[in-house]
Amino acid sequence: MSLVSLLGPRQRLLRIGASAICVFFVLFLFTAYQLPLAHQEQPLLPDTHPEPPVEDGQSNIDENASEVAFDLPPEYTEVTEPPPFCADRFGVSYLRQLRDSATEYCTPESPSGLTCFHSKTTTSRVDTFCLARGALFDQVDKSFTLGCSLRDLSGQSVPRYREFTNYWYDTGPGRVLEEAVRINENNSSLVVPGTVPNYTLLVKREGSNNIWHSLMEIFSMTLSLDVLRMAKHPSEPTTPLFATADIENTQVLVLDDIADGPYVDLWTLFAPKPLLRMNDPALPPLNTSFENLIIPLSGGGNTLWQGDWEIHTCDDSPLLQTFSRRVLNHFHLDPDPPREQLPEIVITFINRTTTRHLINAEEYFAHLESELPHIRIQSIDFAAISFAEQLAVAQQTDVLVGVHGAGLTHGIFLPAHSAMVEILPPSLNHKGFRNVAALLGHSYFSVHASQSVPQPAPEGQDTSKKPDWHQEDVFLEKDIFMELMNVAIKSLYNRGSRNYDVQ
Ligand SMILES: *[C@@H]1O[C@H](CO)[C@@H](O)[C@H](O)[C@H]1NC(C)=O
Ligand SMILES: *[C@@H]1O[C@H](CO)[C@@H](O)[C@H](O)[C@H]1NC(C)=O
Ligand SMILES: *[C@@H]1O[C@H](CO)[C@@H](O)[C@H](O)[C@H]1NC(C)=O
Ligand SMILES: *[C@@H]1O[C@H](CO)[C@@H](O)[C@H](O)[C@H]1NC(C)=O
Ligand SMILES: *[C@@H]1O[C@H](CO)[C@@H](O)[C@H](O)[C@H]1NC(C)=O
Ligand SMILES: *[C@@H]1O[C@H](CO)[C@@H](O)[C@H](O)[C@H]1NC(C)=O
Repeated sequence: MSLVSLLGPRQRLLRIGASAICVFFVLFLFTAYQLPLAHQEQPLLPDTHPEPPVEDGQSNIDENASEVAFDLPPEYTEVTEPPPFCADRFGVSYLRQLRDSATEYCTPESPSGLTCFHSKTTTSRVDTFCLARGALFDQVDKSFTLGCSLRDLSGQSVPRYREFTNYWYDTGPGRVLEEAVRINENNSSLVVPGTVPNYTLLVKREGSNNIWHSLMEIFSMTLSLDVLRMAKHPSEPTTPLFATADIENTQVLVLDDIADGPYVDLWTLFAPKPLLRMNDPALPPLNTSFENLIIPLSGGGNTLWQGDWEIHTCDDSPLLQTFSRRVLNHFHLDPDPPREQLPEIVITFINRTTTRHLINAEEYFAHLESELPHIRIQSIDFAAISFAEQLAVAQQTDVLVGVHGAGLTHGIFLPAHSAMVEILPPSLNHKGFRNVAALLGHSYFSVHASQSVPQPAPEGQDTSKKPDWHQEDVFLEKDIFMELMNVAIKSLYNRGSRNYDVQ
């Protein structure tokens, strides 16, 4: 008999109260640790937390219900309320706070407009994205002009124009505005407004081959458009800044010179018109009006990047789940596909063929296959198949196994309640994939590899230099590998329609 059932009802409540206090205390410590400067700084953005809109039908039900019944016992509201730390970064609060931060940068008399949105979820910087209205394109110097007289924002705690955060690889709205957009306060009649507003996403990428980097950028772009769909147009308060109907008039203009890469197609998630580049002959001629320019949140500013060397306790993310569904939909994949092999447990090993090999992987997986029932193992070189094929593999996977690397990003596309297994190079304590697994409700298991089998250093080489984990192969003792896989696989023995005993 458990301790709780031995206690009387009063003690039981006290116990629950005590654990709730503990949880709050831990959360408080965690939040205080994450935002050590937050209390000393001037508030940067309006501190608004609007109530979620209530649909009509819903409010009726609530009203009628309260007439005939009582509310939940108070213990329940405490546990179902998401901690603000998590909701502000991974929940819809993130979008609402961005929406409510809208700041107009041009004076009302200006022919063009520039609305920017800011988010501060870390003490080290402010993340920004902008929508420019009434931009004129000049094909000769490949830049846009805004007829904008900048407002005096000295009373407001928002970053000044030209002081937006810059991100690695020369990305982010600050860089895009600096490189491609000119403010000309003396241009008083720039734009001839059209009947159908068109939208152009100005995109400057970090690179194009790393799935994690690329997906973070594309995720940030989708969040920016979501916020525009929730934000009021400054002069037409009944329309949003970007409506669903505007999607068909939206195009992507790529500012960087990087090769397309495998993920470029995803930039057109909300921009079905052909993707353009600055040197594209299809670019419109001089003085074409580009009504609206969208300069999205940078990939480096994505909240999934924040604190990826620390664990957090957030275990739900409507933002990430929506992104996952959107990507699958884009490739016409059913986000909840029928499973071919149920009740067999499908284990997918990410077979890296360039660096960070798992030494003896073939032997270990063959051994695993002979030792454990109810499993099917596949070893896939993700780099050798298309992104759509990678997604299809992820969707039919129950346990995703890999040495630390961007391939584990596919955790985002695993079916609900899967398991992720990460083999970390010795002494690497990256927590990014653990946090992603938690946000999607997957189990996560990790081990650190042993130091590689010692190899004699070539003549003249400095043996005191630390090996570079990016390059080194990783080695695990066979019994450690078996224990790792046992725990991960058996965590699924009674999930869904499976019904296996552990022995
Ligand atoms: C709630 O009660 C009102 C008035 O009694 C009734 O008109 C309405 O249909 C009820 N709504 C629901 C959802 O039952
Ligand atoms: C706008 O005109 C004023 C007055 O002629 C001039 O001082 C200023 O430099 C001009 N600004 C730009 C951006 O050309
Ligand atoms: C207005 O903007 C256009 C387009 O960039 C530019 O060619 C023109 O010189 C500007 N006019 C003035 C008065 O600055
Ligand atoms: C945007 O719309 C305006 C007005 O209809 C039109 O003149 C312009 O060519 C369009 N620009 C692009 C880039 O499609
Ligand atoms: C472009 O716009 C500027 C400023 O309005 C104007 O002076 C110039 O003649 C225009 N050029 C063309 C090719 O229309
Ligand atoms: C990984 O791929 C390489 C190259 O195709 C192959 O030789 C190796 O056996 C694969 N490893 C596993 C564990 O399947």
